[in-house]
Amino acid sequence: MTAPGHEPDALDLGLPAPVPDPDLPVEVRIHEVGPRDGLQNESSLVPVEVKAEFIARLAAAGLRTVEATSFVHPKWVPQLADAEDLVPRLAGLPARHPGLRLPVLVPNERGLDRALVHGVGDIAVFASATETFARRNLNRSADEAMAMFEPVVRRATGAGLRVRGYLSMCFGDPWEGPVPPEQVIGFGVRLLEMGCEELSLGDTIGVATPGQVGALLEGFARAGVPAGRLAVHFHDTYGQALSNTLAALRAGITTVDASAGGLGGCPYAKSATGNLATEDLVWMLHGLGIRTGVDLRALVGASAWMADRLGRPSPSRTVQALAGGRA
Ligand code: HMG
Ligand code: MG
Repeated sequence: MTAPGHEPDALDLGLPAPVPDPDLPVEVRIHEVGPRDGLQNESSLVPVEVKAEFIARLAAAGLRTVEATSFVHPKWVPQLADAEDLVPRLAGLPARHPGLRLPVLVPNERGLDRALVHGVGDIAVFASATETFARRNLNRSADEAMAMFEPVVRRATGAGLRVRGYLSMCFGDPWEGPVPPEQVIGFGVRLLEMGCEELSLGDTIGVATPGQVGALLEGFARAGVPAGRLAVHFHDTYGQALSNTLAALRAGITTVDASAGGLGGCPYAKSATGNLATEDLVWMLHGLGIRTGVDLRALVGASAWMADRLGRPSPSRTVQALAGGRA
């Protein structure tokens, strides 16, 4: 019986009854990118204390990798120009949440120097599988960008930092169209050989479909890259992000990038919209009996809180269902 005036919501109904699939991994590591990939695309500047609180809430919800910000040129991404102010505010979090990692994006040695001053332990370089996006995002050809990353990766690994490599436009590019898998695999293998511990394959404009994902991952396997060194990074422009994730899990992927509340995009990629929403991902993974360590209700609370700060509803379907999409 429901008391008059009180409508039951999905929270009252609980979470999906897990039905495990023996062909899928038992555990997935979520690489949360909301504070970086999400907020880099906001039209208004988000105050630094709001960013710090958002990251603290995400950590409290059980996320153990939260990409915090970027040490890029402040004129290129003004939304993240406060990196120097933000990172020290996060210093107490790892002690409260053992195992928490707070990577930052670094494009060049200048960015690495800035990150090292603040004792950052994890960085990510970000390459492009296409020429046009390399020029638009990094002001260089794709090869020149790789040359820019080389000393960054060498110095960072030498200093004991963990380095992730991103590769953008792995499936389609808004200026060049479909991207040949062998081109993607070529750049990806170079990033791994350079010293990146992990390679995240980005569908920057969200055009991939599950068959393409399976084929690209098969290509990496044929090139000798184990699935354990790969992550997937889907944007949800065409509503394919969850289906693509399932295809990736079937191919043995166990690290999935997602953005709390479905925030996101890329300021230098025409038509890039929000990332796969972390809540939608967690709903599916928990429904498949896959462990994530994430408390979905706390995560929805964090995204609803952020939606209130941004003044618009979260695009995540799960946040809408569980929190009425507040704001
Ligand atoms: P540039 O203009 O070619 O830089 O930009 P430069 O090397 O010619 O240097 C020019 C000036 O900028 C110099 O200052 C440098 O010191 C300074 P001056 O000597 O003239 O006074 N500078 C810097 N200052 C602060 N921090 C720095 C820095 N670097 C140079 N790090 C650059 C080249 C790479 C810096 C620029 O293009 C840039 O910052 N790009 C970043 C773009 C970006 O952040 N895009 C979004 C992230 S990628 C993404 O979202 C995709 C992803 O999510 C995966 C997916 O979805 O596919 C990861
Ligand atoms: Mg992205």
